[in-house]
Amino acid sequence: MEEIDMSHSFSSIIGVSPVLQATIDVSRRLARTSSTVLLTGESGVGKELFASAIHSLREGANSPFVAVNCAAIMESLAESELFGYEKGAFSGADPRGKPGKIELARGGTLFLDEIGDMPLALQAKLLRILEDREYYPVGGTRSLSVDCRFIAATNKDLARLAEAGKFREDLYYRLDVISLDIPPLRRRADDIPLLAETFLRRFGIVEPMPAQLITALTDYSWPGNVRELRNAMERLSVFAEDGKPRAEHLPAAVLRATGADTKPTESLVECSPLPIDGTLPEWLADCERKYIEAALAETGDNKQAAAHRLGISRMTLYNKLSLLLGRSSSD
Ligand SMILES: Nc1ncnc2c1ncn2[C@@H]1O[C@H](COP(=O)(O)OP(=O)(O)OP(=O)(O)O)[C@@H](O)[C@H]1O
Ligand SMILES: [Mg+2]
Repeated sequence: MEEIDMSHSFSSIIGVSPVLQATIDVSRRLARTSSTVLLTGESGVGKELFASAIHSLREGANSPFVAVNCAAIMESLAESELFGYEKGAFSGADPRGKPGKIELARGGTLFLDEIGDMPLALQAKLLRILEDREYYPVGGTRSLSVDCRFIAATNKDLARLAEAGKFREDLYYRLDVISLDIPPLRRRADDIPLLAETFLRRFGIVEPMPAQLITALTDYSWPGNVRELRNAMERLSVFAEDGKPRAEHLPAAVLRATGADTKPTESLVECSPLPIDGTLPEWLADCERKYIEAALAETGDNKQAAAHRLGISRMTLYNKLSLLLGRSSSD
């Protein structure tokens, strides 16, 4: 019973936001097919978690899920790692031969992590395998059949890599057929409190989070996504001597973003939120006008000082004044 590993199922993907739920819905659908899937998304969004959930829904949690980190795989050894080798294939090799990752994944899933970093020569071979569903082990004369589902993942922009000649275009098109983008945590801030609470529990903290902590967490942009949040919760648990999680124990980057010591002079003025109608030039002009007015107010209508504050010449300021303020007065 203790062998049951929940970390591989969809139920271990935590989140209540509609964005995440929609992503889960799509991946459940992908799980029903045997097609090759490409998972994209920033670092730490949960690509590997989704890959193993997709795997276990179709192939079953007991079938093999074999992960290959394409960034770490050494080019010279890559082929024998993936395809295996026959007896006496090269000196120093195991005399009995060795199965490759594709063979180890038979009946299950081969997870090609960081596929954007796969050496180009290997990309060509992978494409052939995806099309032909067979391959030759190194030093082998008999081909082996491919009997695994492939799931690839990357936090890179493969289209851009392909354009720059760093990723094979044909492989990119082959993989892009069924791709799923896992959204960054900042686009699903509703998930943050539940994720934070779950991680805290895992680290042994059962006391509720104070409101101030929740605000600090939801205000932060989490560039390292769920992994960064998990690490921050680990930190809180370490510092919570009385078992109470506190905002003051958050990592410096989160604290800096929450506020008290954030640069009050950096923003002279807030731009209005994006309007429902209107054009970008109109919106920009509106921001510019407010910015100039704020600089004039701050400098007591001193044009020279205001121009300096804005980083433009006095002449430019005069031009902008007649253009922008002139127009706004006729609104
Ligand atoms: N929705 C989620 N619910 C619970 N845990 C999550 C969720 N998303 C991510 N995690 C956890 O966050 C950590 C990072 O996730 P994962 O390794 O899957 O990210 P990744 O996208 O593969 O990152 P990288 O690009 O850096 O390899 C893992 O510990 C994972 O279990
Ligand atoms: Mg990963």
